[in-house]
Amino acid sequence: MAFQRAKITVFGAGFVGSTVAQRCADKELGDVTLVDVVPDMPLGKALDMFESSPVERFDARIWGTNAPEDCADSDIVVITSGIARKPGMSRDDLLKTNAQIVYSVVDKVREYAPKAIIIMVTNPLDVMTYLAHHRSGFPKQRVLGMAGVLDSARMASFVALELNVSIKDISPMVLGGHGDTMVPLPRYTTVSGIPITDLISPERIEAINKRTQTGGAEIVNLLKTGSAYYAPGSSVVAMVESIVKDQRRILPCCVLLEGEYGLKGSWQGVPCVLGKNGIEKIIELKLNDAEKKLLDTSNQHVAKAIAECKTLLGL
Ligand code: NAI
Ligand code: 2OP
Repeated sequence: MAFQRAKITVFGAGFVGSTVAQRCADKELGDVTLVDVVPDMPLGKALDMFESSPVERFDARIWGTNAPEDCADSDIVVITSGIARKPGMSRDDLLKTNAQIVYSVVDKVREYAPKAIIIMVTNPLDVMTYLAHHRSGFPKQRVLGMAGVLDSARMASFVALELNVSIKDISPMVLGGHGDTMVPLPRYTTVSGIPITDLISPERIEAINKRTQTGGAEIVNLLKTGSAYYAPGSSVVAMVESIVKDQRRILPCCVLLEGEYGLKGSWQGVPCVLGKNGIEKIIELKLNDAEKKLLDTSNQHVAKAIAECKTLLGL
């Protein structure tokens, strides 16, 4: 019997995409194909990464290409393609442009890699994950968005700083959409099993929640151009690893809810078991009234954005 390495295709060889490609290869999660529309650029980045393999001593091939068809037979497709908002461009213009880019990529994935699991990264994340699912026609288990792992990682970072304890003992949880209305859950965020509500004052927890919710903007403000990519890259790779190794980790992912959490037809970040089939199971946390209200608010926010996108695209 022949054993094959997983094939991981990353669309978009920009900051996030190239970080994902490099870390997937470093961790020997599979062979990586890096696709971008900029002529030759992904070929250069991929060759450079591959030439680091004899030094780093990882066994993975990394190919760069301008041909989206090269995603053929991928097991996992990560989509980071998109453009950032430019001066004079409205939010709607950006949404339309990124939707067209995501459509063009998803069309190729549907045609050439019909069995792939799609991990969406392009913003606005929840809307783009909905579009990828709608356009691909893939089962909901195979279309998921990355945001909750990143948002939770930010929360864990701030908890570690607050308590001056090892990051390794912190198990964070953030639900909801990838925006200001995301829902950090202090009751379900633990340090060696102890909820942070027993360790940190309510005022400081509120500050940690707020910093988590605005974590993306904090990095943007510091970078001046572009947005975060190290932590986003690591977050995508954690999801890829859980899938290709069938680890069945419980990670928050943006998924289609069909009754879970009392929500129907909603795209929200919730904890999921991630394994070889993609979303193996959605975990329903018992939320108190205040937490449920926050999730409902987040859901309304995402539902409105998806409705606006549908109108804009005539869906
Ligand atoms: P970037 O601008 O560095 O990279 C985007 C790349 O996509 C560019 O190289 C561009 O040429 C490429 N591209 C455009 N159209 C394409 C197509 N049809 N096929 C293949 N590639 C195409 O941007 P960066 O920093 O890598 O971010 C990528 C996206 O990820 C952005 O939308 C950003 O907002 C989002 N993001 C989402 C996060 C999340 O938590 N979901 C976290 C961080 C970033
Ligand atoms: C972030 O949260 C930009 O969505 C991106 O860093």
